[in-house]
Amino acid sequence: MKKILLSILFVSVSLMAVDSVAGAEKYVKKCAVCHGANAKKIPIKGMKPIAGMKITKLVKILRYYQAGAPIGDWESNVVAVGHGFSREMIDSTMYLSQRDMDNIGVYVNSLK
Ligand code: HEC
Repeated sequence: MKKILLSILFVSVSLMAVDSVAGAEKYVKKCAVCHGANAKKIPIKGMKPIAGMKITKLVKILRYYQAGAPIGDWESNVVAVGHGFSREMIDSTMYLSQRDMDNIGVYVNSLK
């Protein structure tokens, strides 16, 4: 029993590591240009750096931007995100899978 528990623990820890590495790769390709290599850069006045943001919050925001393009629900996007409703963010999230977003979330959260 102990052995099984240990291997489950090991597998989950290594899965987390893989996620973070994949997230880092995507982040560098898709986000770093505006949010900075360490997610500490501020792309627009009034925004806080996204480094260390809670995973669930970041994923929710990304999904929101992604859905914003076809739905075009301007008003509620402004409310939910708390900033503008930028073309940049819609374009950068458009082709991300749910897994990409989760991975990016794990990575950005780890940057403090
Ligand atoms: C071309 C520039 C650009 C790229 C690329 C970009 N962003 Fe953004 N991002 C912005 C701007 C500008 C804002 C603020 C304006 C807005 O909210 O529409 C923003 C807002 C955000 C916010 C909301 C922050 C808050 O406090 O509400 C998050 C989270 C975010 N970006 C994450 C990402 C991630 C993750 C990626 C990569 C998948 C990414 N961004 C790619 C420019 C960019």
